[in-house]
Order: sequence, then structure tokens, then C-alpha cells
Amino acid sequence: MGVASLPSLLFAILFVSSLTVSPAYSRLTTNYYQRACPRFQDIVRDIVTNKQITSPTTAAGTLRLFFHDCMVEGCDASVLISSNVFNKAERDSDINLSLPGDAFDLIVRAKTALELACPGIVSCADILAQAARDLVVMVGGPYYTVRLGRKDGLISKASRVLLPNSRSSASDMIRFFASKGFSVPEMVALVGAHTIGFSHCKEFAGRIYNYSTTSPYDPSINPRYAEGLRRACANYQRDPTMSAFNDVMTPNKFDNMYYQNLQRGLGLLQSDNTLVVDARTRPYVQAYATNQTAFFQAFSHAMEKLSMYGVKTGRWGEIRRRCDAFNIIKT
Ligand code: HEM
Ligand SMILES: *[C@@H]1O[C@H](CO)[C@@H](O)[C@H](O)[C@H]1NC(C)=O
Ligand SMILES: *[C@@H]1O[C@H](CO)[C@@H](O)[C@H](O)[C@H]1NC(C)=O
Ligand SMILES: *[C@@H]1O[C@H](CO)[C@@H](O)[C@H](O)[C@H]1NC(C)=O
Repeated sequence: MGVASLPSLLFAILFVSSLTVSPAYSRLTTNYYQRACPRFQDIVRDIVTNKQITSPTTAAGTLRLFFHDCMVEGCDASVLISSNVFNKAERDSDINLSLPGDAFDLIVRAKTALELACPGIVSCADILAQAARDLVVMVGGPYYTVRLGRKDGLISKASRVLLPNSRSSASDMIRFFASKGFSVPEMVALVGAHTIGFSHCKEFAGRIYNYSTTSPYDPSINPRYAEGLRRACANYQRDPTMSAFNDVMTPNKFDNMYYQNLQRGLGLLQSDNTLVVDARTRPYVQAYATNQTAFFQAFSHAMEKLSMYGVKTGRWGEIRRRCDAFNIIKT
């Protein structure tokens, strides 16, 4: 090797390593739209506020939609894509468990307003991340920083949706979150999102009807709560829209009541109750139940992390013109 080539070789090594080592999320910034769309934050906040006031289920729906988006292909708005004859998209996977229409509608409204103000600039993935944070704050939860600059993804396939469900064991949930880089305390904090919103009766029917030969309902459920749920869901097989609040005590408020409920047999889903039963997760349920500040801190930290999971920047994505379709329809 000639001496002259050494600097260029070093340069090449540094250059290549900076390209491969620097993860996409490190290129997200808090002031990404400052020049190209300075009213981004205000526009999202206005649309979110109006929507949440007219449809109070929007906050929970959007938070869940965001979680599902990030856990499949990363936070890249892949969950917003509609299916077509060539592609069965994420949102039509069997496990989507009827993702709420209000949340999709919110993103469409925000996108429309942003395209008027600054056409072609703001990604759907950023809108969803920002809207989820604003809504958490609106219902009483903690503020956390949302970095911006995500591109919208180019893949959305129902077959790639693999998420835990209401019957998952603690080990399944821990393994799933660990595979995405989340620790047990982070996982327990994130599932604290179940302090708002609701679940359809079929998600917990197995706990309240015909549970076993000795008990009509899961004996880990508070008896009065179980009776209330049995009445509320009495007709669920004929009316699949029937549902119950995730947090029976303060259903619309983002607080640490979810964890206190778990300790009193007031957890709705089996996957929720598991968190207070399993020895690996119980200490964090206890910590968050007794100290809301500790929960809010852990939730904020975990949401910042979730918001950057698997994001795409540069040419790895696009700015969609419509949030429900790729710019170029692939066949
Ligand atoms: C092990 C993890 C999790 C499981 C098994 C799980 C399961 C579920 C299920 C079965 C529902 C009811 C859906 C329906 O009936 O329509 C639900 C609702 C919800 N989930 Fe989760 N979830 C998990 C983690 C999370 C996380 C990490 C978040 C957010 C950070 C979240 C946010 C929500 C919200 C807000 C709702 C209420 C949705 C609404 O009211 O429209 N969940 N979840
Ligand atoms: C969820 O999946 C079901 C079944 O595949 C589908 O009928 C429904 O439209 C989907 N929900 C949304 C909001 O896309
Ligand atoms: C419970 O069992 C009874 C008797 O076998 C049956 O008629 C009923 O439909 C079951 N209920 C549910 C919700 O599965
Ligand atoms: C609650 O948690 C916060 C944050 O972790 C901590 O600073 C505070 O000391 C805790 N409060 C109590 C009463 O333990």
C-alpha cells in the first residue's frame, strides 16, 4: 500500500462508518420543521384539540394506533395504509382488533391542514407521533419530547403484524418487548397506556363467562367488578361493539390508576392482570401504583424511545401525499 493512499483510506473508513453506524433516529431533531413548516406544532395541536373535544375516544385510539405503527416496521405510518387489490395492509390484519376510526380520521384532518399550509413537507409518521403526545398531555398525562424528521414507510403488510394479545403470557410480552429493545420496567410503563380507552368484550369474555367448572369467572377478578362486566357484556356475541373501560375508576384520565386497579383485581385484560401476578413485572406495578411521578417519568422516557423505534430518514422513506396510500402504487 502506498503512503499516499493512507489518508484517503482513512477518510473512506471514517465516511463509511459514519454512514453505517449513525442510526436513523439520531438524525431526528426537535426543530425539524422550523423553516419549512413553522406552524407544524400549532396546526397539529389545533386539530387534535378540536377532535378530542368532539370525540373524546380519540386520545386512546390514537395512542394505540401509534403503538401498533411503531411495533410493525417502525414508526413510519405503515399502519395508516389502506389495503388494495394487490396488498392486504397492516390495518387489515386479524390482530388489528378494530383499530379506532377516530384516530385515522384525526390524522387525515391534520394532514389536510398541513398540506394546505406547507405542501409536501410533513410526514404522516411525524403527524401521528406528535398527535399521540399532544393527546396524552390533553387527557392529563406527562409531556415528553417528540423528535421529528421521520419519513413515511414503503411497506405495509398484514402478514407482518405480530403483536402480543390479550391472552399473552408475561413471558411472551417480556420476550416481545425485549426483541424491540425495551426493558421490563419500560414495558410495564408503556402498558400503563391502558389507563385510558376501552376494550371489546370478546377480549376478556373468557375471564367472565364459563371460566371453569368451579367458577363462572376468573377468581382473580374482584367479584363485584366481574358481575358488572358480565352485565355490561351480556349481549356481546350478538353486538360485537360492546366494550368496557380499560380503567374502571378513572376511564378518561391519564393517571396511575391502572396499576392501582391491578392490585385490587380490577384489571380488565388477562394480559393486564398478568403484570401484577408475575414476579418479574409486579415490582414495577407496585412502584408505579404508589408513585405517579415515577410512572410519568418512566412512561415519558419509554414513549420517547418508542417514538424513535425503527424510524426511516432520507431515501429510506417518502413524504406521502395522502396518509393512506403510498405515493407510487406498487403492484
Ligand atoms: C403487551 C402489550 C399489550 C397488549 C397485549 C395490549 C392489548 C390491548 C387490547 C386487547 C386492547 C383492546 C382493543 C379493542 O378491544 O379494541 C387494547 C387497547 C388499548 N391499548 Fe393496548 N396492549 C398492549 C400494549 C399497549 C401499549 C404499549 C400501548 C400504548 C403505549 C397501548 C395502548 C392501548 C390503548 C390506549 C387502548 C385503548 C384503545 C381505545 O380505546 O380505542 N397498549 N390493548
Ligand atoms: C381490521 O381488520 C378487520 C378484519 O381484517 C377489517 O375488517 C377492518 O376493516 C380492519 N379495521 C380497520 C380500521 O382497518
Ligand atoms: C356458557 O355456557 C353456556 C352453557 O354451556 C352456554 O349456553 C353459553 O353460551 C356460554 N356463554 C359464553 C359467553 O360462552
Ligand atoms: C416518586 O418517584 C420520583 C421519581 O422517581 C422520586 O423522585 C420520588 O422521590 C418518589 N416519591 C416517593 C414518595 O417515593
